[in-house]
Amino acid sequence: MNELTRATRLGRVRATAYAKLNLALRVLGRRDDGFHDLEALTVSVADPHDVVEVQAVPHPGGVSLDVVGETRNVPTGSDNLVVRAAEALLVRAGRSGHGVKTTLRKKIPAGSGLGGGSADAAATLLAIQRLLEVEIDEARLLEIGASIGSDVPFCLTGGAAWMRGRGEQIESVSLPAAVPVVVVLPPFLVDTRTVFEAWDELGGPHSAREVAAPAAIADIVEVCANDLEPAAEHVEPRLARFRQDLEDAAGLSALLSGSGSAYSVVLDDEEQESRVVRKIRRALKVPVASSTTMTRGVRLGLV
Ligand code: C5P
Repeated sequence: MNELTRATRLGRVRATAYAKLNLALRVLGRRDDGFHDLEALTVSVADPHDVVEVQAVPHPGGVSLDVVGETRNVPTGSDNLVVRAAEALLVRAGRSGHGVKTTLRKKIPAGSGLGGGSADAAATLLAIQRLLEVEIDEARLLEIGASIGSDVPFCLTGGAAWMRGRGEQIESVSLPAAVPVVVVLPPFLVDTRTVFEAWDELGGPHSAREVAAPAAIADIVEVCANDLEPAAEHVEPRLARFRQDLEDAAGLSALLSGSGSAYSVVLDDEEQESRVVRKIRRALKVPVASSTTMTRGVRLGLV
């Protein structure tokens, strides 16, 4: 019996939920269901990350949630994607009466374009699957994930991938090991739905700002552009100035992740990292995560 099996028998599993970054994002058009078809090169990164803990309890039945940490704009009840994911999996497994206590430690801000809610949902699905030894194949798990949020299938798969459709089609790609990346969190957040609506209102713009792909991903994509950037800057005009200041401080190009507001700066080597992080912190006085790409989106471990 390995350690994780023993922990499961004790009735608790911890899952680390990694943030995602979009390094390139094209919006192909609005669909009849209101969602948008995308083509986005997406990676999992070590930091920031959330932690989901799930525990089987004899009673009460149903899913309970406790949220701690960076809780701004995070629902604490049945709207939280942790609860929605847990309930969906329990129903699918025919165990909807089961008591599951969940704890969510948030570090990925809601409204940062880092897929925090989706990462939490993916972590919950995998943690409960392990906790209750639910037999479910990967395709079904991805299907449940897609019904909860557009980024959940990617977070379940993790690593590096092209996301297509509204996010449910995942084509994994391989990256050189552990690419160093700096994640920068502006002091303002933006709502994803509002940014997509602005993209429609603006007539579906393609981003005019194209950045040469950093060396680590040059084999996968030639230029990095995010079509949601003009819409995000329309919704939150302070983003444009923030990005300019960030690029001036780093001396490198910054990429908006998803609908924003977080930016990433992909580095060529680790040696640059501490210097770049210091310069950004000093100039912008905002949270900066010194991070690296990961080969998965969720890590299961001991409590
Ligand atoms: O799927 P999720 O709940 O994360 O999406 C949040 C909102 O972002 C959706 O309600 C939708 O308005 C918008 N969206 C979209 N097209 C996508 C993903 C998200 O229009 N591919």
